[in-house]
Amino acid sequence: MDEIDLERGLRERRAIRHYSDAPVDDALLAEIFELASWAPSPGNTQAWKVIALGQEASKDVIARFELAGWESVFPVLEQVLRNGGAAPPSNDDRGPATADEWRRYVTGMYRRFFEVRGAPRLLLVYRTADRRRYVDLVRLSFTALLRRAAGEPGLLQGLRCFFTSLRNVPVLVRVNALTRTFGLANFTYAVTLAAQSRGLATCIQSNYLNVQRDLRRYLGLGAEIDIVASILIGYEADDALPAPEMFRTRKPVAVEWIETTPGTVAARRDARVFEAAE
Ligand SMILES: Cc1cc2nc3c(=O)[nH]c(=O)nc-3n(C[C@H](O)[C@H](O)[C@H](O)COP(=O)(O)O)c2cc1C
Repeated sequence: MDEIDLERGLRERRAIRHYSDAPVDDALLAEIFELASWAPSPGNTQAWKVIALGQEASKDVIARFELAGWESVFPVLEQVLRNGGAAPPSNDDRGPATADEWRRYVTGMYRRFFEVRGAPRLLLVYRTADRRRYVDLVRLSFTALLRRAAGEPGLLQGLRCFFTSLRNVPVLVRVNALTRTFGLANFTYAVTLAAQSRGLATCIQSNYLNVQRDLRRYLGLGAEIDIVASILIGYEADDALPAPEMFRTRKPVAVEWIETTPGTVAARRDARVFEAAE
């Protein structure tokens, strides 16, 4: 079993869409899930759950849902390609010009680079949506506000404090939803790294989320199953094509270094980094 070091793992993991037909067994997946469960989550809630489709079931779902999931993304892909100065199609030094040519170009790119080949397994990372939790959260936020308002010296100040803080409730609800999603996102990325450490290739895919109502119905899953990520996992094909460079390279991270607090923020912007990042 290949164990690779962390820095190499971070640098060399790539989204792979071309797989061999070699099967991935359940025991290996279970090992990967256990490794990934060391991902951090808010309050250590570990709210992630996984549906691991077998090889045949994965093939079936990919055949039925992949293109449907991508279709709504094609306009976005077109925009990314236009902004990235897409290379003109081969044997033609004139890039796509008309809307029709662009549509054909984007479909061609999808077929060549992004359409899944081979027989990976499909993992669905989900959480169980629980409306009661949201009601509880709003109730608890109110309780906290009331307590804080009650601590004010007079009734008027208390009321003012309460109504001013009320504006914060949507923020609290949003942050709660965000942090819960974060936990699942961390787990998802950890699955890709754990898989890599075991010689497996992966690709996080959001296209299945676009059609998740149909997918849920097809798999007989209830509406409480909130699919947050899907991951292809399998052995990379010997003849796998790398994705176009613009989908693999990294730009410098835009950082604002804050030197002094509080009041005036003396942020030192590194102009070169910002230019490169924009
Ligand atoms: C949240 C998320 C959603 C993604 N959705 C898709 C997808 O629907 N289809 C796909 O082929 N790749 C998808 N990817 C893979 C990205 O395109 C890929 O990670 C990115 O281009 C960087 O390439 P790299 O992972 O090889 O470094 C997704 C990645 C993330 C993190």
